[in-house]
Amino acid sequence: MQCDQTTRGSELLLGMDRSSDTPMHVQLEGALRDAIRSGRFADGTKLPASRVLAAELSCSRWVVVEAYQQLTAEGYLQARAGGGTVVFSPSPPAEDIPRTPVPAPPAVLVDFEPGIPDLAAFPRSAWLRALQHTVRSLPPHDLNYGADAGVPVLRRVLSEHLARTRGVRTDADGVLVCAGVTHGLTLLCEVLRERGHRQVAVEDPGWPRLSKAVRRAGLTPVQVPVDEEGLVVDALWRTSARAVLVSPAHQFPAGVVLSPSRRTALLDWARECDAVVFEDDYDAEYRYDRRPVGTLQGLAPDQVAYLGTVSKTLGPGVGIGWLVAPGELRPALVGLRDCGDPVPATLDQMALAHLIESGSLDRHLRRTRSSYVERLNTLRTALAQHLPGARIQGADAGLHLTLLLPDDADEAALVREARRLGVLAAGLGDYHSGTSPRPGLVIGYGQARRRQITEGIAALAEAYRTTRRVGN
Ligand SMILES: Cc1ncc(COP(=O)(O)O)c(C=O)c1O
Repeated sequence: MQCDQTTRGSELLLGMDRSSDTPMHVQLEGALRDAIRSGRFADGTKLPASRVLAAELSCSRWVVVEAYQQLTAEGYLQARAGGGTVVFSPSPPAEDIPRTPVPAPPAVLVDFEPGIPDLAAFPRSAWLRALQHTVRSLPPHDLNYGADAGVPVLRRVLSEHLARTRGVRTDADGVLVCAGVTHGLTLLCEVLRERGHRQVAVEDPGWPRLSKAVRRAGLTPVQVPVDEEGLVVDALWRTSARAVLVSPAHQFPAGVVLSPSRRTALLDWARECDAVVFEDDYDAEYRYDRRPVGTLQGLAPDQVAYLGTVSKTLGPGVGIGWLVAPGELRPALVGLRDCGDPVPATLDQMALAHLIESGSLDRHLRRTRSSYVERLNTLRTALAQHLPGARIQGADAGLHLTLLLPDDADEAALVREARRLGVLAAGLGDYHSGTSPRPGLVIGYGQARRRQITEGIAALAEAYRTTRRVGN
């Protein structure tokens, strides 16, 4: 139908049924709406005057007026100033928008995204019981604004739990509840910035989000290399940073554990430079070959601010972490809360306290530990079979494995090709500030089932073979 051409009522008769129970004005509305949506009545098409259309359709004028008014209100029609009603349909109807065919994404065979725990294993029943217990027993007063440093019961339970499991030296007053490691780090950086710090040393490679958090808090992250013994403390001396973020228990992504001599050297540096060590106790809950190394905080509570989280044990969606800072930093940290810094919900904090006190968290850790060990063993077997030229770096710990690839591997091409084959894995280069010294992959096994692991590694090996650099 052409613009400004007047429609004929008979065209609208199509689809209208006088014997139907649906009133005539509703049927007319429907017929008009369909004609406009399908493009049969184009933008600007003039509709017959209500009197004329009523005569053509042998119905009362009221029926037509009612239908026109309804569709005008819905935006399909417009009443013209000089009289008359026209179709208003400036954009082509959605059905008619030509679509460029988008290739379907490849089906995901296995997701090796690092650092994500088995989210399907979240202890739902135990969490529900903990929440139920909390909601039933909570005095009304506890629904008021909570204490700035966190709910007292969680701070007490965490201080005992951290002392028992990680040798952290604190009491309830020393624990500040926050939303996770990233959040705790932000708070520490803000306090240091107010005290005149300009830089924070960070591990290279490392989780880029932590460097971003440092920058967002107004400080400059200074990259310090990591080798097979962990953070290179000699390189730290060559910076002017007086704070460092380090993950001694299991470095992400290198997978290494800070060696005993580096631990001593790091604490010497902190003492001599009057510096602060931010200890990210990353993955400490999951060490499979032996007990995890003790915390630096346990050795030097006045030099070390300890950071922990439930992101790797329960899931990042829970959004609770903790910070145990040297006493002299605490008032300033708690003071930030008074300026509107968010605290996790009281109900969630209390539920977590109950989960820990009832032993449910320990049970969950035992269960997940044994399932991660099985996955890690499956992964090692599959790697030995399909990618024998690759080398695994680091400790038997955590939720990821660091794989150093043969020199002829083209990391970026391999990651792309693996993705095409349905295997999602991260390249080691993604975590380096510059170019990574050698090609590698970071394979998270927190979410992968054992069969998926075997199939995924076979596909990775195929991707390696088809993308490796020729001539090497
Ligand atoms: C090195 C490192 N530290 C800590 C975390 C946890 O951070 P958050 O508690 O903010 O989730 C992660 C998460 O992947 C990480 O990679």
